[in-house]
Amino acid sequence: MVMWTDGPLCYGGDYNPEQWPASVWAEDVALMRRARVNLVTVGVFAWSRLEPTPGRYTFDWLDRVLDLLHAGGVRVALATPTAAPPPWFSLAHPGALPVTADGVRLHHGSRDTYCAATPAYRQVALRIAAALADRYAHHPALALWHVHNEYGTTCHCEHTARAFRQWLAARHGDLATLNDAWVTAFWSQHYSDWAQISTPRATQYLANPGQLLDFRRFWSDTLLAAYAEQRDLLRAANPAVPITTNYVLGDWVPVDHARWATEVDLVAVDHYPSAVDGGAEEQTALAADLARGWARRAATGQPAAVASGTGGMPPGAAPAWLLMETAPHQIHTAGRMHTKEPGRLLRHALAHVARGSHGAMFFQWRAPTGGAERFHGALVPHAGPDSRAFRDSVQLGTALSRLAEVSGGVESSVALVVDAASGWALRHPGLPSTLLDHHQEVAAAHRALWRAGYAGDTVSPGDPVDGYRLLVLPALYLVSDATAGWLRAYVHGGGHLLATYLSGVADEHARVRLGGYPGALRDLLGVRVEEFHPLAADAHARLDNGGTGRIWAETLRLTGADTIVSYAGGVLDAMPAVTRHRYGAGTAWYVSTRPDDTTYRRLLDTAARTAGIAPVCPAAPEGVEAVRRRNGNASWLFLLNHTDREQRVPARGTELLSATTVRQAVVLPPNGVAVLRETRVESAAAGG
Ligand code: GLA
Repeated sequence: MVMWTDGPLCYGGDYNPEQWPASVWAEDVALMRRARVNLVTVGVFAWSRLEPTPGRYTFDWLDRVLDLLHAGGVRVALATPTAAPPPWFSLAHPGALPVTADGVRLHHGSRDTYCAATPAYRQVALRIAAALADRYAHHPALALWHVHNEYGTTCHCEHTARAFRQWLAARHGDLATLNDAWVTAFWSQHYSDWAQISTPRATQYLANPGQLLDFRRFWSDTLLAAYAEQRDLLRAANPAVPITTNYVLGDWVPVDHARWATEVDLVAVDHYPSAVDGGAEEQTALAADLARGWARRAATGQPAAVASGTGGMPPGAAPAWLLMETAPHQIHTAGRMHTKEPGRLLRHALAHVARGSHGAMFFQWRAPTGGAERFHGALVPHAGPDSRAFRDSVQLGTALSRLAEVSGGVESSVALVVDAASGWALRHPGLPSTLLDHHQEVAAAHRALWRAGYAGDTVSPGDPVDGYRLLVLPALYLVSDATAGWLRAYVHGGGHLLATYLSGVADEHARVRLGGYPGALRDLLGVRVEEFHPLAADAHARLDNGGTGRIWAETLRLTGADTIVSYAGGVLDAMPAVTRHRYGAGTAWYVSTRPDDTTYRRLLDTAARTAGIAPVCPAAPEGVEAVRRRNGNASWLFLLNHTDREQRVPARGTELLSATTVRQAVVLPPNGVAVLRETRVESAAAGG
């Protein structure tokens, strides 16, 4: 397979020529050349234009488009259009339209109008994928297959229920095991026949947590099977072309991206910040760190350990991934569209490249005149090429072309443990608080590390973690015996761990562990919790270091750990809030609340320094993000100024965007960026 991610950084986006008369296509290619666009996703929602009636294909327009792009030097990520079946399919197969948990069958008129478990849908999806493969698998413009778009919809129809029962039988073996895992003795839910089990449809009152969790796992596997059968077909047509699908990020997504990562040749993610303030930069950094964590699995079949002690990936093991879609000139929040300030497009794009993305791709190339997303941002906006937006698109293309030499992994000695199943389980009803959220806890811990100047990797339970000095466990609610053993071995061997509240409370079936919280991790953390004290949404628990906690507090008894911070005031006055425990050769911290951002930042900074880790660029001023990529002896320092003031960072090397030599310090303009090929400072010993 040709892993072209060794070549120049990718720049481009979703290109929908089917929305435009052919007369626009030549201008498109000319503008792409001007902007240095070198990769576009084509055909992603073009099914009804490619197969206007069942089995009759109209490829002539796509032939012309691919030839034009190829002649213009633009490579193609050719999509299978299976996220938007044509109207004729829904009319012929009304039973393939998706059904909500309330039993409402959804209709045509949008995208994703199918149930991925329905045989009729799977057949036509494979048929159009096969037709595309027959025609284009050896087209010289083809660089990547882009299967489907953002797998993420769900369904509760009868086909799904049947498939769910088969999946459950394979997972649990027999009904006795399933009844035990789901604790069906509660509320008379004992199943005596597989046929009695349905998907977790709308119920009178709270649903069974085990059933909800298994349904999420099942659905992730079902979507994966739908992806994998297209992939296998495309692979057979030309094994040299890499294949991927674009991950949609969000805690609502019923996909375990870490599990999927070994099934794609290249991890590709879509990321749209939902904040317009500084939160956008924090979300961008987290999304990119998640993608890199999945990419490590994709690259090696399993995650590679980072170089021990020094942090960073060993040379040659750097996994590439790709930011496949983001909005170029706007941030789209739920309520309104925010136009990015000058410099923000470049900063966001380089934040992804700094964290290992092999370029920056956007939704979309040209803003359409109609359709549901007619006001979504585009590299060529409604105003046309004579616009600030397009000039910024050109500037970004130029900047990316100057970074071709950047390669290698991201230096990091800290990893956050992220787990889709814990995220799903903490969305179940019937928990002690509605504010519990694994992903929000991951984001809070990541934000604290980010603000303290540390680059954080992400890993999944069970991944090799020998090379990390500090592991952070943000509300890792589900901990199997195997995961508990993995954590014990890590700390016992000298690792540092910081776990937050609710970690280890339940097993992999979401059954609460007995004997005191945090269940599976009591001995490792040296604490025992008898009672929770969830906090109201607007309440705070005071801490004796001057900080506050939110969301959660608990009665913590020490069984070996030392108190580092105590609660101050209220029923928990003077009781431990944050503890530290020596375990084997390592250290395990426990944080029983969600500290405010400043307190959390200090806490993680202390934990990191105790573990022997320093920030990426200790001299970087507040508000300047620093990320280092390293490949063997070469290293590149990305400096992103998120403030509207000029900033100075002591450094030496060559600044690649401006091609200037830096002898003492980089001066970053307000909201500006710099990428420095660092000059190696030889150590005294090496210097002789
Ligand atoms: C995702 C989808 C695109 C488009 C954008 C809008 O990236 O893949 O088709 O809907 O979101 O933000």
